[in-house]
Amino acid sequence: MLLQIVRRTTKFCWDILPNAVLSTWVFLRLGKLIHKAHIKWQGRAVLNYTRFLRNVPQLELLRDLALKVPTGDTWRVISVGCSTGAELYSLLWYLRSARSDLQISALGIDIADAVIAKARSRTYFREDVDDL
Ligand SMILES: C[S@@+](CC[C@H](N)C(=O)[O-])C[C@H]1O[C@@H](n2cnc3c(N)ncnc32)[C@H](O)[C@@H]1O
Repeated sequence: MLLQIVRRTTKFCWDILPNAVLSTWVFLRLGKLIHKAHIKWQGRAVLNYTRFLRNVPQLELLRDLALKVPTGDTWRVISVGCSTGAELYSLLWYLRSARSDLQISALGIDIADAVIAKARSRTYFREDVDDL
């Protein structure tokens, strides 16, 4: 009950207050407390969730960095916790579309065998489940 009140009040503040207020010491301190409580009480689970183009701003940032690399260079990309590879393949598509002259090698690693098998298959279907 108390947690619900805190959650609703915080969400309300987050939605209506301007950044200048949310960046004050009081709200930063409150955010740290909420984060600490969340870490302490949340259930622990490993999710394999991923999907193609999941984080476009991140892909665009990496593409923009690749645009600054000198012609003919080699780039190595490593995705730690790559899941089924959808994110890494999305990145390769972005990079190779922007810089076809770059030599790009990619490595994905993950602790879950099922997602690595899926990534190795390089075969995806619309009806694939997001979390193996
Ligand atoms: C939520 S998925 C993220 C997938 C992808 N990177 C993305 O952002 O869309 C997290 C993945 O990290 C993997 N993982 C968790 N701990 C790991 C570890 N210590 N080493 C390698 N992979 C790990 C999980 O098996 C899971 O597939």
